[in-house]
Amino acid sequence: KPLVFSGVQPTGNLHLGNYLGAIRRFVALQDNYDCIYCVVDLHSLTAQLVHDDLEDQTRSITAAFLASGIDPQKHIVFNQSRVMQHAELAWIFNCVARIGWMNRMTQFKDKAGKDRENASLGLLAYPSLMAADILLYRATHVPVGEDQKQHLELTRDIAQKFNNDFSERIAARNLGVEMQVGDETVNGYFPITEPIIGGAAARIMSLRDGSKKMSKSDPSDLSRINLTDDADTISKKIKKAKTDPDALPSEVDGLAGRPEAENLVGIYAGLADISKEQVLKEFGGTQFSIFKPALAELAVVTMAPIAEEMRRISADRTYVDGVLSDGGDRARALAEATMHDVRSIIGLLQDQ
Ligand code: TYM
Repeated sequence: KPLVFSGVQPTGNLHLGNYLGAIRRFVALQDNYDCIYCVVDLHSLTAQLVHDDLEDQTRSITAAFLASGIDPQKHIVFNQSRVMQHAELAWIFNCVARIGWMNRMTQFKDKAGKDRENASLGLLAYPSLMAADILLYRATHVPVGEDQKQHLELTRDIAQKFNNDFSERIAARNLGVEMQVGDETVNGYFPITEPIIGGAAARIMSLRDGSKKMSKSDPSDLSRINLTDDADTISKKIKKAKTDPDALPSEVDGLAGRPEAENLVGIYAGLADISKEQVLKEFGGTQFSIFKPALAELAVVTMAPIAEEMRRISADRTYVDGVLSDGGDRARALAEATMHDVRSIIGLLQDQ
């Protein structure tokens, strides 16, 4: 049965990239899938161990989910650390995955920097915990931004290796399901997850540098639009966004070699939920002096109600904590059923 899982880290402010690349798509998937959306607090320890306000960051991401329109009654919203099975399955996947796989991850290389020996072991094992998040619910579809693509490929590799290495024990316990991997039909316990990436907003870039992605960790606040920015701040940041002197082209091909222009067109498309082609149909031949104010207005109209709703929801801490607690209970029941199977497949003795 199809199931959607995705996660967001509770570190720093959410920005337009998180919203357009991920959260907005989470909302859209709710109508057609059962969805589990997780605030991945254990992941936030990998780059930085001590946080002043991890509790409030966790609540704030939760409020952003709810304010954007995720329904915590029809679907599941919770924070990862409440369901200890995530850490348990991650340990098992640490023993499935190979060190070489982890060493090849570009996010690890970027975040560890030159002093790799001094990066936390958790930062290296990060994708193993991410695979555990997804496969604990045997999720089939994972909506993410482009930057998570490599981690999802690794999740597929982990699932495939587990299915392969334990194939006889899976079959003996009758726990396998038939699935399609490429042209082949195989039998396995974990599904081979499909990423859902794409559209104009899969990779939103920095407003100051079209070659860098918009990110929570960029030291310049002008590089990103935060979900909590007010209308004036949003307009100012778009006005100051880096561009080139030419007018917008009328065809998408004309954006080649113009990363900043392409990014602003992508943001417009993401906000309006249309394609880049459609944006250029409307704005082809227009100067940035006209396009930027139109983009700013669209951004304000789209984002301001979400920011307002986030503030309203955040004020009711009991409600937010209740959502996470209830979601955690429902997630744990699903997670424990999977772990029961997994322990049995591996041969870890447990009560029947
Ligand atoms: P995180 O917290 O860095 O980002 C959350 C989501 O936002 C997307 N995103 C972007 N999309 C477009 N343009 C951008 N500039 C941009 N920046 C971020 C990310 O791709 C992501 O979808 N490892 C994950 C969290 C995670 C997870 C999971 C995701 C943990 N377990 C299981 C899916 C399934 C991360 O650090 O996302």
